Amino acid sequence: MDLRLLIVSGLLVALGVSAFLIFQVEPNTQQADTRIEVAEAPLFERLGGAPAIAAVVETFANRLFDDPELEPFFGSLNETRQQRFIDLNIDFICQATGGPCVYTGRSMFDAHRGMGTSNDVFDVVFNHLVTVLNDFDVPRPLQRELLLLVESTRSDIVEE
Ligand code: HEM
Repeated sequence: MDLRLLIVSGLLVALGVSAFLIFQVEPNTQQADTRIEVAEAPLFERLGGAPAIAAVVETFANRLFDDPELEPFFGSLNETRQQRFIDLNIDFICQATGGPCVYTGRSMFDAHRGMGTSNDVFDVVFNHLVTVLNDFDVPRPLQRELLLLVESTRSDIVEE
C-alpha cells in the first residue's frame, strides 16, 4: 500500500475514534425534571360535582321562570316542562364540564329554533347565571370557565 494512503487512512481512523470518544464522554447537560405534573380535575369536580351543579341550575331556572322580561319565552312551560328544562340543563352543564352525565336533549340550535331570541335576551339569561354563581360564591376563575362554555352556545341560540 502507498505510504501516503496508509497515513491518510490512519488519520481518518484516529479521527473517527476520537470523535466517538468525545461523543461518549459528552456530559449530560440535561437537568433531571423534578416537576410533578398534576392533572387538573375536570371543571365539573372543581365546581363541586353533581349536587352543586344541580343547586345552581335549579336556582338559575327558577329566576328565568320568575322574570317578567322572559315571560314570552318561559311563560308557557307547565310544571312538567319546567322540570324537564331543569333536568336537561343539569345534564347539559354536567356533560359540558366533563362530568359523568349524558345529555339527551336537543342540540342548542334545535331547542331554541324559532324562539326569536336576541342578543339582549341572551344577555338577560346569561346575567341571571352570573348572579346565581355569585350568590353561590363560586370562585371567579371557575365562573369564567363555565361562562365561556355557556357563551359558546350564543351563536346557536340567538336569531338575529
Ligand atoms: C344561555 C345559554 C343557554 C343554554 C345553555 C340553554 C340550554 C337549554 C337546554 C339544555 C334546553 C333543553 C333542550 C330541550 O328541550 O331538548 C333549553 C330549552 C329551552 N331554552 Fe334554553 N338555553 C340557553 C339560552 C336560552 C335563552 C336565551 C332562552 C330565551 C330566553 C332560552 C329558552 C329556552 C326555552 C323556553 C326552552 C324550553 C324549550 C321547550 O321545552 O320546548 N334558552 N335550553
